[in-house]
Amino acid sequence: MTAELSVDGLDAAYGASQVLFGVKFEVEPGETLALMGRNGAGKSTTFKAIAGLLPPRAGRVALRGQDLAGAKPYRIARAGIGFVPEDRQVFPEHTVEENLEIAQKPGPGGGNWNVERAFEVFPLLVPLRKRMAGRLSGGEQQMLTIARSLMGNPAVLLLDEPSEGLAPLIVAQIGELIRKLREMGTTIVLAEQNSRFCLGVATQVAVIDKGTIVWRGSVEQFRADPSIQARYLQV
Ligand SMILES: Nc1ncnc2c1ncn2[C@@H]1O[C@H](COP(=O)(O)OP(=O)(O)O)[C@@H](O)[C@H]1O
Ligand SMILES: [Mg+2]
Repeated sequence: MTAELSVDGLDAAYGASQVLFGVKFEVEPGETLALMGRNGAGKSTTFKAIAGLLPPRAGRVALRGQDLAGAKPYRIARAGIGFVPEDRQVFPEHTVEENLEIAQKPGPGGGNWNVERAFEVFPLLVPLRKRMAGRLSGGEQQMLTIARSLMGNPAVLLLDEPSEGLAPLIVAQIGELIRKLREMGTTIVLAEQNSRFCLGVATQVAVIDKGTIVWRGSVEQFRADPSIQARYLQV
């Protein structure tokens, strides 16, 4: 089986400071991979390198076998990689509905996403439909940015720390939503420091430390070996 997303030998740097060293992982269709690591381990940089915002110095980023490493961000997005960065940017002076409409376009994913479908799958956004996005709470903005990225019908969705800074009840709602997307067949990579949250939603785990993948396995294998958490994740 061809992996939906395959990253291999990925190096990335900010100026003279190299941050990623041969990052390698694969995600099979329909899986949710948790990319776990401490603050500063290289999770966001991995996503920026995949999405083309920080062009990699070396390596391969293949979507369904097509190498996209070093392509412009708009080309990578159009090829089917949806990216929700950690800062949850919305168009604040536009309504929730407009934020979704702006992003609606065909893509390679099988979800047939459009604005109406987004409101079906994200019922918490329905009463907010006409509200200015700048007036949403953090959790509501997170849901909106996830919904908006789905409007481009991506093959793979990269979610950078979707639970960060949100109250426990909202984190649980975001978790429900990610599980629902997985059940619909969406392929997801989730960057997280919060291992409790991602073990509840992911199927696969990759642990990153100092810019290198140091462990890879299923959620069951991860749970069975507490030494991995002790070594790479606890602060
Ligand atoms: N814009 C930047 N310029 C220089 N260094 C950066 C920049 N962004 C991140 N870094 C550094 O790269 C390393 C990895 O950061 P990052 O990918 O944001 O980690 P994570 O998302 O896992 O917390 C850290 O040492 C961080 O300080
Ligand atoms: Mg980060």
